Amino acid sequence: GDVRLWGGRFADGPAEALAKLSASVHFDWRLAPYDIAGSRAHARVLHKAGLLTADELSRMLDGLDRLEADVADGSFTGTVADEDVHTALERGLLERLGPDLGGKLRAGRSRNDQVATLFRMYLRDHARTIGGLLAELQQALVGLAEANADVAMPGRTHLQHAQPVLFAHHVLAHVQALGRDAERLRQWDERTAVSPYGSGALAGSSLGLDPQAVAADLGFERGSVANSIDGTASRDFVAEFAFVTAMIGIDLSRIAEEIIIWNTKEFSFVTLHDAFSTGSSIMPQKKNPDIAELARGKSGRLIGNLTGLLATLKALPLAYNRDLQEDKEPVFDSCDTLEVLLPAFTGMVATLTVNRERMEELAPAGFSLATDIAEWLVKQGVPFRVAHEVAGECVKVCEAQGIELDELTDEQFAAISEHLTPEVRGVLNVRGALASRDGRGGTAPVRVAEQLAEVRADLAVQ
Ligand code: ARG
Repeated sequence: GDVRLWGGRFADGPAEALAKLSASVHFDWRLAPYDIAGSRAHARVLHKAGLLTADELSRMLDGLDRLEADVADGSFTGTVADEDVHTALERGLLERLGPDLGGKLRAGRSRNDQVATLFRMYLRDHARTIGGLLAELQQALVGLAEANADVAMPGRTHLQHAQPVLFAHHVLAHVQALGRDAERLRQWDERTAVSPYGSGALAGSSLGLDPQAVAADLGFERGSVANSIDGTASRDFVAEFAFVTAMIGIDLSRIAEEIIIWNTKEFSFVTLHDAFSTGSSIMPQKKNPDIAELARGKSGRLIGNLTGLLATLKALPLAYNRDLQEDKEPVFDSCDTLEVLLPAFTGMVATLTVNRERMEELAPAGFSLATDIAEWLVKQGVPFRVAHEVAGECVKVCEAQGIELDELTDEQFAAISEHLTPEVRGVLNVRGALASRDGRGGTAPVRVAEQLAEVRADLAVQ
């Protein structure tokens, strides 16, 4: 028979060129387990509405079980002729149950409400997988911060030396960003816990089916959609998922870029483990940070998936349009990309070693303690505008003589300003500078230890 779900009013089958264009089974096949779960729930509400007898329901569920097993072991698959996963699975059911019973399941549902529901289920599962992988990366970063808890480094703005910070403080800044991404995934999941099943093609069903029962059956904690048109036509849940995954890619790329820079000969801040770096086919000495570079590269791809999807959605009239079939490949790719990238990235972070001597040696370089002179002067009652001038003058003298701030003599200090007594030397060291920034959120060791504890506690409850 005709596998198509819509052949009745057509004299001829589809042209081959149309069938090729129209087919989505090669990428939507991954929705198959969700489609079968949806079919089970749908069969139950058909029974509740008196449209399937108890015996028919039990044979239907048995047929769906057998179909599921055949899908799982690969003995049943979809083909181009099936058009999409929904059609293929209906063919499988008809083959197993015969047309009289198998043909009853299509009542009261459309591929439009099916696909909107299954897609939510698929993405919700993957949001959890990605959230778990993200938590592992956060743990690895926390471990890196903890293992190097007292290491100072040059903090930078504009990539120039700015003020010394604890390496742990810097690493935890990335953990904070990833923590917000994880929170976005959880909030997205909560917003997406609403089922479109029962919306039909767009207007709902006349068969007395219970969308709330289907929603509960399929694990949608917030029930079924309030509006069947919205249920079948909205894809903001996809766009939002694509944004969150793109944001994760961007946050990874920012860590990646720093690791690439830190791993250069010139910086020599970190060393990558052999198992998480690659060599060159021609230059025997090379050891390259490919994982970090791939993370940087793949962030572009994740951004592309988001922008492509937004372009597809723009100006689409309600309700379902076939354009919407273009919604799946980009975010399937975003899932695949992050699910391959995150474990490698975590491995790289968990195994990299920090060159403490190098970081600490550079922490005070580049006059990064100039702000400390200015703030010390403020504590002596000097107005900040004057203090800033005076500290700037110190930098100018040092630059001219090729020395660092702590190499200025008492006489040179006094010549720059009468306020610069020898006591100023007390702040001209990295440890003092770090310890003095002790407000909440600052880089003082005591505050960073608190932050570590907070982050650890947050990760433990997720
Ligand atoms: N494969 C389609 C999609 O992914 C679902 C089928 C809806 N097709 C239709 N002609 N209404 O959007």
